[in-house]
Amino acid sequence: MSGSTIVILDFGAQYTQLIARRVREFQVFSVVLPCTASLDAVKALDPVGIILSGGPSSVYDTDAPKADPAVLQLDLPTLGICYGMQFMAHHLGGRVVPSGKREYGDASVVVKQANRLFTDLPTELNVWMSHGDSVVDLPTGFSVAAESGSALASIADESRRMYAVQWHPEVAHSKQGTALLRNFVLNICGAPASWTPEHFIHTTVESIRQQVGTGRAICGLSGGVDSAVAAVLVQRAIGDRLTCIFVNNGVLRKSEFEQVQRNMREKLGLNVVAVDASERFLTQLNGVSDPETKRKIIGREFIAVFDDEAARILKDEEAKGELTHDSSGNEVAWLVQGTLYPDVIESSSVKGPSQTIKSHHNVGGLPENMKLKLIEPLRDLFKDEVRRVGRDIGMPEEVLERQPFPGPGLAVRILGEITPERVEILQNADDVVSQEIKKAGLYRQIWQSFAVLLPVKTVGVMGDQRTYAYTCAIRAVHSEDGMTADWVPLPYEVLRSISSRIVNEVHGINRVVYDITSKPPGTIEWE
Ligand code: XMP
Repeated sequence: MSGSTIVILDFGAQYTQLIARRVREFQVFSVVLPCTASLDAVKALDPVGIILSGGPSSVYDTDAPKADPAVLQLDLPTLGICYGMQFMAHHLGGRVVPSGKREYGDASVVVKQANRLFTDLPTELNVWMSHGDSVVDLPTGFSVAAESGSALASIADESRRMYAVQWHPEVAHSKQGTALLRNFVLNICGAPASWTPEHFIHTTVESIRQQVGTGRAICGLSGGVDSAVAAVLVQRAIGDRLTCIFVNNGVLRKSEFEQVQRNMREKLGLNVVAVDASERFLTQLNGVSDPETKRKIIGREFIAVFDDEAARILKDEEAKGELTHDSSGNEVAWLVQGTLYPDVIESSSVKGPSQTIKSHHNVGGLPENMKLKLIEPLRDLFKDEVRRVGRDIGMPEEVLERQPFPGPGLAVRILGEITPERVEILQNADDVVSQEIKKAGLYRQIWQSFAVLLPVKTVGVMGDQRTYAYTCAIRAVHSEDGMTADWVPLPYEVLRSISSRIVNEVHGINRVVYDITSKPPGTIEWE
């Protein structure tokens, strides 16, 4: 989007994505570029303002991340944050020195100058600091805007619309941080609040239409929200020239194969080829207990099945003369992927120019003359933005709010060997967990909640009968991103109904235990 973007130059802080998200919360489009991005790459985005992120280095480190200092001469509103402030001061003729001690954590700063960054903010701010170096001499034209204790906490040259803060306004601990960023983005940069789901949908559909022309596309559906939203956007652009592939790998949740097809076909109008390859997967998994081997087998089979189907679909289309050709006479088709923005940012490193974005692992063996080009309609979006777009395009809530489900499915939740009987037992137990968690109104609050089948049989008694059956573990975790997680203190009533329903209704399980391990040291999945 031209003339409406905020460019964030990433100097390697762990909070850079957070800055991007805050800006987008004001409905302003933001792009994170590695600090090494060329001046031309910055200008190409036609930004209305620049934010220089924090970073772990000192400006004097030999390997300190460097941006082209000419970025400070673009005559654009600029906000330096933490390392960004030091970078700014250092390159505009000020002086930065290592502080005696590192300032880390909550701090209080006093605003000394009523500049536009502090409009409607109190004069004393609670902020979150994390820095070693400090600015001691100001560049020409700058004045002190805020102080913390004896150190400079903010400097500004209002005539050039250049501002810098030593703290991190993007983290929640900085109480008035959002208001400060809003002042910068909306008032100082004058960025239009036009980054809305409707705008995104409209421009994305239009650009896919241009990109694909009369070509055809295929898309692998996982049942989750990302691939579904990506598919719907492409379908809006090219209609039935998109074919979606949904594979039953034999370790889906109960009724999921049918449910996903129903949702995708009937509710979203997608053209879905459903492939029931469960026998093929379960045959390959027969007798395998090692977790990594299970994952490898499932990954490999998935690629094989997807390739077969994609090749078959494209061959059919070729036979009907529906595939377009490039200048060398090769058929051109597109592969839709649900790549999200965090993946895109992660694959472009701070230390060097961006590495190639992950190529799709599902197109291993497609015939040479079928050149699948990638369309990644969600590569500008964060997960919550995907959900908002999904809601706008009428995605059913059960797809939008679905808890994450691992690619290898129930296979990593059946410890030991995977047999059709064990899959069915776990599907039934897992179904009870889902139902009870939903009934208790907890499903959306919990990152993941599920059952795990243990290869442990214990003795029980039901009626007058002795039983000897499997044990099932229940796992429920809260998490932000799956990297760390805490077990959920489920109400006893919910645990009680889950346990009693599983033991009574699921043939093959006579004991239920609850997993109270956080991550780390545990992982979320058991395998
Ligand atoms: P762990 O078990 O590593 O899981 O704590 C972290 C998150 O990742 C999911 N997960 C996977 N997702 N393919 C996936 O698509 C996989 O092989 C896979 N393994 C784990 C897991 O469900 C959790 O949300």
